[in-house]
Amino acid sequence: MATSVDGFIARKDGRVDWLETSDEFAGGATMDPGFVEAFLKSIDCYVMGSRTYETAVSFEAKGLGWAYGDKPVFVLTSRKLPRTRDTVEFYSGDLAQFVNGRLRPAFRSIWFVGGGVVAGECLRLGLADEVRYSILPILIGDGIPFFDKLDRDVALHLTEVKGYKNGMVALCYEVRTERIRPNQAPEPTAPSGRGSS
Ligand SMILES: NC(=O)c1ccc[n+]([C@@H]2O[C@H](COP(=O)([O-])OP(=O)(O)OC[C@H]3O[C@@H](n4cnc5c(N)ncnc54)[C@H](OP(=O)(O)O)[C@@H]3O)[C@@H](O)[C@H]2O)c1
Repeated sequence: MATSVDGFIARKDGRVDWLETSDEFAGGATMDPGFVEAFLKSIDCYVMGSRTYETAVSFEAKGLGWAYGDKPVFVLTSRKLPRTRDTVEFYSGDLAQFVNGRLRPAFRSIWFVGGGVVAGECLRLGLADEVRYSILPILIGDGIPFFDKLDRDVALHLTEVKGYKNGMVALCYEVRTERIRPNQAPEPTAPSGRGSS
């Protein structure tokens, strides 16, 4: 997900108008459309919260397109929301059971689009293997945090850092699966599988 430097993914009211920043970083890389295309191709399905889905649907209604192509999109919601296309499916209930029992056997690369509630749920339940975090050159003061209600530490291993010409810094982390017990040093174990947030 893309965040402000102070760690927010949207304003309190859900607006993401601040994503368009105007910085220039002379030493930065240029976004390679071929790389982006290949990366998106590698994603097998998307999982998102209902508020993120509502934002995506409103973007589409404004003529800004649907960002997820013809890939399956699983929307978490307890409400009855309009289904805007055949590739969208709704789910309500235990996220770990859904991801491990239904999605993992069918899809190799599962992309958690967000928002903060779902990203927090995903990390709390130990479902993410990788976290991609793109920081935009702006502070917005208040908003929806990247990971909502994270009730414990999650150790990460930095695997990629890239600064872009527009001032964005893209970070990629593996989620370390070490278990931390009270008053004891962590026991590192190798990260496994795939599933990104
Ligand atoms: N900057 C970025 O890269 C980025 C990326 C993604 C999203 N966003 C922004 O983030 C905002 C939304 O984030 P958010 O944290 O407010 O909400 P969210 O994570 O998109 O959605 C949360 C909602 O999903 C439903 N839900 C979650 N887990 C569920 C489960 N296990 N079973 C059933 N329903 C479940 C619940 O809604 P119900 O009431 O429907 O049950 C919950 O309130 C939007 O403004 C969006 O544009 C930004």
